Order: sequence, then structure tokens, then C-alpha cells
Amino acid sequence: MSGCRCLLDWCGLESRLITLRSRSGLSFENVINTFTQTAKHERCSFHGNVNVGEDVTIEELRQAYHAVVLSYGAEGNRSMEIPGEDFPGVFSAKDFVGWYNGLPTNKELCPDLSSETAVILGQGNVALDVARILLSPLDMLKETDITQNSLAALAGSNVRRVLIVGRRGPLQIACTIKELREMVNLPNTRADMLTSDFEGIAEALKDLPRPRKRLTELMMKAVKEGGDDKVEKCCGFRFFRSPVEVLTGADGKRATGIRLTLNKLEGSGDGARAVPTGQIEDVECGLIISSIGYKSIPIDPTVPFDPRKAIVPNDMGRVQDTAGLYCSGWVKRGPTGVIATTMNDSFDTARVLIQDMEAGKLDVSVNKLGAQAITDLLQTRGVRTVLFSEWEKINAEEEKRGKSLGKPREKLLDIDEMLKIAWS
Ligand SMILES: NC(=O)c1ccc[n+]([C@@H]2O[C@H](COP(=O)([O-])OP(=O)(O)OC[C@H]3O[C@@H](n4cnc5c(N)ncnc54)[C@H](OP(=O)(O)O)[C@@H]3O)[C@@H](O)[C@H]2O)c1
Repeated sequence: MSGCRCLLDWCGLESRLITLRSRSGLSFENVINTFTQTAKHERCSFHGNVNVGEDVTIEELRQAYHAVVLSYGAEGNRSMEIPGEDFPGVFSAKDFVGWYNGLPTNKELCPDLSSETAVILGQGNVALDVARILLSPLDMLKETDITQNSLAALAGSNVRRVLIVGRRGPLQIACTIKELREMVNLPNTRADMLTSDFEGIAEALKDLPRPRKRLTELMMKAVKEGGDDKVEKCCGFRFFRSPVEVLTGADGKRATGIRLTLNKLEGSGDGARAVPTGQIEDVECGLIISSIGYKSIPIDPTVPFDPRKAIVPNDMGRVQDTAGLYCSGWVKRGPTGVIATTMNDSFDTARVLIQDMEAGKLDVSVNKLGAQAITDLLQTRGVRTVLFSEWEKINAEEEKRGKSLGKPREKLLDIDEMLKIAWS
């Protein structure tokens, strides 16, 4: 059982996979098949539509099971903490990604795509995902499971230029090579970079570890080649710049630009720190997307939580001071790493759990009721769960709707509609 409604978690995972397909090293079908096999296993019970911390507490789960693993990811986002962050026209990448991926909570986002320039703050893979969605030809997007709502909005988009802003330099960029290559190879889009951001970088190349070296070389190639000025769209990085304020028009009501402070670096390599120089630069733009990272949230007051690191404090997956409670994934390590990283991390936690069982640190001497206890409890509280077979009905409906549109699926955006189909 996950931290939030399992039903929604699974839909979200699928969405991300469609976007990430072919880049994670794991095929989309493999991930689905493994999940399905596990969910259908006779010793696994799937309870969807359950909100842990509200419908059932962690303490109740611990009473029902010998061990509980928290694996609920990171559904919050880091805030930029700058004036104007809440103005219309400014979105978190989390919400923007949720919007085009069909998460019910983000279906009303309706981003205004009427301005020519969009600025994305942060230079991780999520920032690159968002840039690709904003600039990809519609025909490419139509083949994915991006929602019809977002497709319609993107069809009317005026965004032609996307700038991806980072507080540090090219040698500290957070994205990875596959994602960068996809951005650089976007059809009908030329690179828009500043050669001044790359001063001294060529000399540093020889000392870089191979992955960082390849990444840097690819960026330098894009800077050198620039691109055909006649190409309508452009995308590029701006380095050594931190956001300080969202600018608004005369009415003060919506974002019309972003004020950046220029930085210099103190130190070198991954640990280099961005220090403001006092120089300011304003960039005109009507769409600002903050992509500076996700963060986990606490879901139950009885579970230890480190608000600074936004993780559940743990020792190799064993939750601090709480025997029988474990964690894995982003809630254990923080929001970094690709799907394979998170998968391996879950294997590590499982290994630790088994070690504890074998070493007698996990008390399995008393029989526990497991799923039966939780099913009874939820029933007495009037919480109707979604079984895996019921979730499969939602899945089939989405695939059916997608087929008629020539795409892998059309996501259901309304929870009540999902539940109606599940329980039909
Ligand atoms: N295709 C894929 O496999 C894929 C797709 C999406 C996401 N992911 C993975 O998911 C994880 C999360 O991705 P992400 O892009 O959200 O995070 P991320 O990789 O951690 O990148 C966050 C970016 O935000 C910047 N940043 C953080 N705090 C900032 C601040 N206060 N002011 C200005 N800039 C700030 C960081 O700069 P600094 O470096 O200076 O801190 C960095 O450029 C990553 O491991 C990513 O690889 C993978």
C-alpha cells in the first residue's frame, strides 16, 4: 500500500514512463509487466483509493503487519522563495508535469501559453522534459499519452523560445546526456546559448569524469553550431544566474518577466557554490516554470521526518527509532536518480528487511492478520477500496479511449469517474 491513493500513484507512474520511455534503460512494457505480476501475486493485496495517514494510520498498519515499507516518493516541490512566485504565469514543474500527464489534481492548471518566451528555472531532467513538451512538434506529442486537454492547449501555444536557467555553470548542470541529446535534437529548434557562459570550459574538459565530459562536449557542440536563424523555435541554457524576483506588468497581476542575479562560482567541480555578483539581468517572459526539485512530505505524525532534508531519517532503509518500519526510494534518499536507481534502492531496502528478519531484529514470532485486518478496518470506516482487478478496468477504459484517438491511452482526469468505472 502506498502513501497516497495507490490508484493515482500507478497512473502517475505510467504517465512518467510514457514520457521517459526508451530513456530509462528499462522498457515501459517491462515495468508494467513486473508491476502487474507483483500486484496479481497470491501473496500480495492491492488496496487502491486509500489515503495513508487519513483512512488508516501507520500505527494501524504496523499492528497488522510485521514490517511496513514507506515508498511514497516526493509529491511536494521545493519553493524558490522569491517575491512573485505565486503570480499567475508562474508554475511549479511538478504541477506542469502533472497537468500534461493527466493527474486529476492538476487538470485545471490551464497554463497561459500566449507569450513567446518561457523561462524554466533549474537545469535537471525535469526541466528538460518540460522544455521538450513546450517545443516538440504536435505530431510527435500526439503519439504519446499526453492528455487531449494539454494537446489542445499546446496546439494554440505561442511559445517559441525556452530558456533553461541554472545558478551554477556548465560543469555543474544537473541533467544527463540522453535527455540533453533529445533536447538538442528537437526538430525545428535551434540552440540559443551564450558563448560567454562557456569561457574556460574547453580547458577543463580533460580532467572531467567521462559522463560529465560527454555532457559538456555535447553542450559545447550546440554552442558552436548554434543553428539556423531561420528556424522558428529555439531552446538554450543560461548559466550563472539565480532568480530573485518575478516581474509583473503595470497592473501587477501576472508575470511578465523574471529578474535574475548573476553569479560567480566559489570552489570547483560538483561542490562549487554560486555567489551573487550584484549584477542584475531581467528576462521578459510570460511563462515561468520553477523546476528546482521535488520534496517528500510527512504523511503521518508518528513517523520520524527530517524537514530540512525532506526525507524519513533512516539507516539503509531502516526508519530511525521505529522497529519494523522501513523506507525506500525518494522518501529514503531524496528526489534524485532515474527509475533504475529507485528500483535498485528498493532491492537494498528489501535486503535489509530480510537480514533483520534472519538476525531476529524483526519480531515475526507473533502471527499478524495482515491484509484481513486492514480490509476490516477500512470497511468499518466506510472506505471503499479499489482492488487490482478493479484498477484494471480503469486501465482498460483508458486504453480504449486512447485507441480511438490513435494513442496508447487517454487518461481519465476525474477521480469520481475512475471510481465509477472501477466499481461498475
Ligand atoms: N529522463 C529521466 O530519466 C528523468 C526525467 C525526469 C527526472 N529524472 C530524475 O529525477 C530527479 C529529479 O529531477 P529534477 O530535475 O527535479 O531535479 P535535479 O536533477 O535535482 O535538478 C534540480 C535543479 O534545480 C536547481 N536548483 C535547486 N535549488 C535551486 C535554487 N534554490 N535556486 C536555483 N536553482 C536551484 C539545481 O541546481 P544545483 O545543481 O545548483 O543545485 C538543479 O539544476 C533527478 O535525479 C532526475 O535525473 C529523470
